[in-house]
Amino acid sequence: MKPEVTESDTIGDLFARYVVPNYTRFPVSIARGEGSQVWDTEGNRYLDLFPGWGCNLLGHCPPAVVQAVGQQVQELIHVPNTWQTSLQGRWAQMLSERSFGGQAFFCNSGAEANEAAIKLARLHTPKERYKIISFKGGFHGRTLGATAATAQVKYHEGLGPLMAGFRYAPFGDLEGTARLVDDETAAILVEPVQGEGGIHLPPDGFLAGLRQLADDYGLLLMFDEVQTGCGRTGEWFAYEHFDVVPDIMTLAKSLCGGIAGGAMLTTAEIAPSLRPGMHAATFGGNPIAAAAGIATLETIENENLLSRAVALSAIFRERLEQLAAECELVRELRILGLMIGLQIEADAEQVVDRCMKENLLVNGTQGNVVRLLPAMTLTDAEAHEGCDILTDVIKQLT
Ligand SMILES: Cc1ncc(COP(=O)(O)O)c(C=O)c1O
Repeated sequence: MKPEVTESDTIGDLFARYVVPNYTRFPVSIARGEGSQVWDTEGNRYLDLFPGWGCNLLGHCPPAVVQAVGQQVQELIHVPNTWQTSLQGRWAQMLSERSFGGQAFFCNSGAEANEAAIKLARLHTPKERYKIISFKGGFHGRTLGATAATAQVKYHEGLGPLMAGFRYAPFGDLEGTARLVDDETAAILVEPVQGEGGIHLPPDGFLAGLRQLADDYGLLLMFDEVQTGCGRTGEWFAYEHFDVVPDIMTLAKSLCGGIAGGAMLTTAEIAPSLRPGMHAATFGGNPIAAAAGIATLETIENENLLSRAVALSAIFRERLEQLAAECELVRELRILGLMIGLQIEADAEQVVDRCMKENLLVNGTQGNVVRLLPAMTLTDAEAHEGCDILTDVIKQLT
């Protein structure tokens, strides 16, 4: 048995003894964050190009969100959804007016938003329709429904039997998708740009083709914009880049400027199928999340951050294209707004570890993709600082 933890034990000891070891964690304890910088408990400063796993799109501790939450906790922290709050109503209105004009169901995470979408698809379509087509390499979360929707075998191992009814199509292959449609198909669920799968943009016409397929066969088209949404790509929502409007859209991650929150948006025609008693989230749309969500949308607007995301994207594109031209290890740069994937012929985790030693935080996914999800509030100087370090690290691998 492990000995008792005492006052003098390290944070690492506390984790080893008391925290379920389901994450691979760096042996670093983060104590404070501001913008795109964080400091550990030893006082070391890091530049964070993957803040909050995509949740901190406004950077760490964005002042307007800090202010809104600070004020809100003194007025009302939580009321159940058997009551109305002006905050939740206003938040839904703001999301509706910036997207396709529908209604919102609020929850607390991306997986939960996708669970709501899956239920709604089954409830809204005729009883015999229960199947949902999702895409290989996609990622939709870790609850069992969202895990079944996630067409990556490595996340299924040991969990079976999974929820029935998912069919997996190759991302980008319209004919392959059409072949999976039958009389029992209810919906198509897709990330407009695959994130965890390695930043994959859809080929030209793919999402429009899915829209057509859905219309032809009476299916619902559901976009998982948990990672792409709320300005990440330089538009409010990624679907705007492709001129395709979904029937259902899920959001989380950056929705509340770093506070936990999720939402499923759908049209006013489809929404009533999620009738009272069929779905709920106790904390969904709570006053803290709503205040943070409103402050997030206002900040993006007031500070012109959609344009800022486009400008920053251009810096990353130029710097990383330069790196690709100079370094044979770089196979491909895939970028839309502030979703950035650099596929390399090397282990991406090695890059993550070496960057960490240089006080730069980045992410590795799918073995060989270095992923950056920087904040819209990053400065030009910080963008160049990050690119300088990343360039040196990758060049030194050769
Ligand atoms: C596209 C997408 N959907 C869903 C999720 C799950 O979100 P959460 O971890 O908030 O449940 C993620 C998380 O990375 C995601 O990238």
